[in-house]
Amino acid sequence: MYVFLPLIILGVLLLITGILILLDYIFGGSAEKTIILNGDTELVVTGDDTVLSTLSQNQIFIPSACGGKATCGLCKFHMEGDVPPVKPTEEPFLTNSEIEEGIRLSCQVKVKDKMKILLPPGLLTAKEFHSEVTEIEELTYDIKRVRFELKSPNHVEFKPGQFMQIKVPGIDVIRAYSLASDPAHTDYVEMLIRLVPKGQATTYVHKALQVGDKAILIGPFGEFYLREASDRPIVCIAGGSGKAPIRSILFRLKALGMPRKVKYFFGAKSVKDLYYTEEFMELQKEFPNFEYIPALSAPDESDNWKGEVGLITDVLDRHSGDLSGAEAYLCGSPGMINACINVLNKHQIKTENVYYDKF
Ligand SMILES: Cc1cc2nc3c(=O)[nH]c(=O)nc-3n(C[C@H](O)[C@H](O)[C@H](O)COP(=O)(O)OP(=O)(O)OC[C@H]3O[C@@H](n4cnc5c(N)ncnc54)[C@H](O)[C@@H]3O)c2cc1C
Ligand code: FES
Repeated sequence: MYVFLPLIILGVLLLITGILILLDYIFGGSAEKTIILNGDTELVVTGDDTVLSTLSQNQIFIPSACGGKATCGLCKFHMEGDVPPVKPTEEPFLTNSEIEEGIRLSCQVKVKDKMKILLPPGLLTAKEFHSEVTEIEELTYDIKRVRFELKSPNHVEFKPGQFMQIKVPGIDVIRAYSLASDPAHTDYVEMLIRLVPKGQATTYVHKALQVGDKAILIGPFGEFYLREASDRPIVCIAGGSGKAPIRSILFRLKALGMPRKVKYFFGAKSVKDLYYTEEFMELQKEFPNFEYIPALSAPDESDNWKGEVGLITDVLDRHSGDLSGAEAYLCGSPGMINACINVLNKHQIKTENVYYDKF
């Protein structure tokens, strides 16, 4: 009898494990769950992961620049019905009215059966692209242009100003980068990537990324894009790698024959931070409607700089008249954008005509 005791115990343990697995499959994290998307589409998912990961496993991509670490605030989504309380990690990114409306961070909310999710239709068109790095160009000591040729799918439609996410090869970190290329070229995209000291993704891109490397891109995303239906004069303001989406916007305006007046302010510290100066000076010669105003806040003596000197806010102020009929596109650091918006407001721009991406 005692000879069989270990076998009996093992059998009972196996039976209990089997029952637990079955119960988990039926009622627990592995159970199938139905998500109701935009009121009418039912999506059957499994697992106990976050809304962000679960949807991306099902080829629905909510933007994220931090890969789900609750540090970018980009992954907002709208829930209806049984909305969970806000977590402390979500609070810095949500206004009171967003919380009341049922907006949450999709990387902080786990999927639940019968969960009702509303996503803007534009998001449902974002895809995952397999690409290959075909060009890397050093634009300044800390900014590189990287071209990704799209392999599968082999083309992308994007609005100039939008961004894509990149799963940085080798380290699998996800980051967002604005598209800097001409939207008319749909077989590749270009990004202008500035080295952030100790930054994971940018250190990899600047020190290790090679032509021929494969990369996964996701997108396109974003509400920062050229409003083509408008005929308002345009003010563009950029700093650092914020030149990326503005470059794409200008490619498009050039293709349209520069139908609107455009003043483009680019703020940098000294000459070593300037890039694409020739490109935009040429554009200025070609189109009287376009004016490029690079401004240096602290030029070196050796720079021999003859252009505008001062903070970009002061230069913007000096060159702006009444902006009540204008439209503005700003891209750069949060500090620069906030300060420039104050100047635009002083010149009577309408809040609804100001578009920006802060990073
Ligand atoms: C919509 C959108 C578009 C973007 N487009 C571009 C683009 O076109 N070009 C571009 O270079 N970047 C762009 N970014 C920023 C980019 O997504 C990364 O945040 C940035 O490249 C840093 O990544 P990292 O992994 O190297 O640094 P991380 O490892 O994430 O950060 C390292 C440290 O640096 C700090 N840090 C992070 N970002 C910055 C920053 N920009 N400046 C100073 N300190 C920082 C972090 O707080 C952290 O302490 C964009 C971001 C968003 C949200
Ligand atoms: S993915 Fe960055 S906050 Fe959610």
